[in-house]
Amino acid sequence: MTSQEIRQQFLDFFKSKEHLIVPSAPIVLKDDPTLMFSNSGMTQFKDYFLGYKEPKAPRIADTQKCLRVSGKHNDLDDVGRDTYHHTMFEMLGNWSFGDYFKKEAIDFAWELLTEVYKIPKENLYVTIFEGDASENLERDQAAYDFWKAHISEDRIINGNKKDNFWEMGESGPCGPCSEIHVDLRSEEEKAKTPGVQLINQDHPQVVEIWNLVFMQYNRKADGSLENLPAKHIDTGMGFERLCMALQGKKSNYDTDVFTPLIAKVEELSGKKYEGILENEKDIAIRVVVDHIRAVAFAIADG
Ligand code: SER
Repeated sequence: MTSQEIRQQFLDFFKSKEHLIVPSAPIVLKDDPTLMFSNSGMTQFKDYFLGYKEPKAPRIADTQKCLRVSGKHNDLDDVGRDTYHHTMFEMLGNWSFGDYFKKEAIDFAWELLTEVYKIPKENLYVTIFEGDASENLERDQAAYDFWKAHISEDRIINGNKKDNFWEMGESGPCGPCSEIHVDLRSEEEKAKTPGVQLINQDHPQVVEIWNLVFMQYNRKADGSLENLPAKHIDTGMGFERLCMALQGKKSNYDTDVFTPLIAKVEELSGKKYEGILENEKDIAIRVVVDHIRAVAFAIADG
């Protein structure tokens, strides 16, 4: 499948589940003093979560251009040095505004990944929030129980506040989250080290692809949490990583999202891209193609 087909299938799937498809917001935010750039799919929907505005529909899906180069979500230092972080990336998201909650979000994600995209179930792992005593937050037993209907318990892993409690920034809507990780290693490598040991360990082929956030709190400026007026779903799937998984590649840069840009850099520079992780020339080429995309879209978005 081409990246365009992968994106379209995501939108078509959620349309079939009664979601309204909306466009990406601009990367450069115009009316939010707490953030300079859209760093996630939820920024354009913040006022819906907070109850300040009525959503256009209770269920929405989209693909959002995101930029993570500063502030709470900053991937800049990893770009090019690894093969799966970007300054700009696309986040595929489905949203429920006071409509469905954990069960449906988990069921939809599993159906899309395993039945539509046909990712082998044995390559998937999920994480759930283990709770945090300092914030008086309990372990997410409900998410655990909903996952148990799909996946064996040894593949459901507890995660801490850093990985499994999603926050937009210093303040704003937030909540526990459940991530889906995919293991893209060879059978030989899997036999040597079980994937479960590599979740959240920065392995380039055992990566998070989708984050399901169960929005139920607002972090106030004084750091305290208050309940939102209703419970919502915010999910974000890394489009470039999904393309890597579905196109059978080991690096986002080997997908058709990036190969045309790399070919152009090769043509202009007279250097050959070899896809080697620690090779300075290859790191530089990854940085150039990543940044040119980010800069082009950021300029176009004002
Ligand atoms: N807000 C979450 C994230 O950015 C899910 O969309 O990961």
